[in-house]
Amino acid sequence: MKILLVNGPNLKALGTREPAIYGHETLDQIVSRVKAAAAAKGVALDAVQSDIEGELVAVINAARGVYDGIVINPAAYTHTSVALRDAIAASGVTTVEVHLSNTHKREGFRHASLTAPVCVGQVMGFGGAGYLLALDGLLDVLKTK
Ligand code: DQA
Repeated sequence: MKILLVNGPNLKALGTREPAIYGHETLDQIVSRVKAAAAAKGVALDAVQSDIEGELVAVINAARGVYDGIVINPAAYTHTSVALRDAIAASGVTTVEVHLSNTHKREGFRHASLTAPVCVGQVMGFGGAGYLLALDGLLDVLKTK
């Protein structure tokens, strides 16, 4: 079983970026936690981060036939990117969306997700722990496929 963890724009700044909203954990710490949790279940996990929409589209398209599932935090592109949504749909790879913050408690423009409708599920509001919940949910869905 191979899982791809994808993080979108500005998430490299986690740890110092608006800690009252996103917490103090760095992206490296989150990725290490998710990798350890995956390894404990015998699952291989690769992680990528990009600020560039086209790179994220390419990574998702390339995941087809290589990865069994994707956990993605599309960050700001969640609310704007038809291209990311189309890439997830086109790849056919089972995908779970995750957000550190509860976007429904925030500005109105963060309430809509263009990507969630092409994902099997969405986890939000649990900080870095949400990534572990997303991985668990994804593995459970893949088990029954
Ligand atoms: C985020 C929420 C988005 O609205 C925001 O643009 C981000 C991070 C989250 O994880 O809470 O960059 O995806």
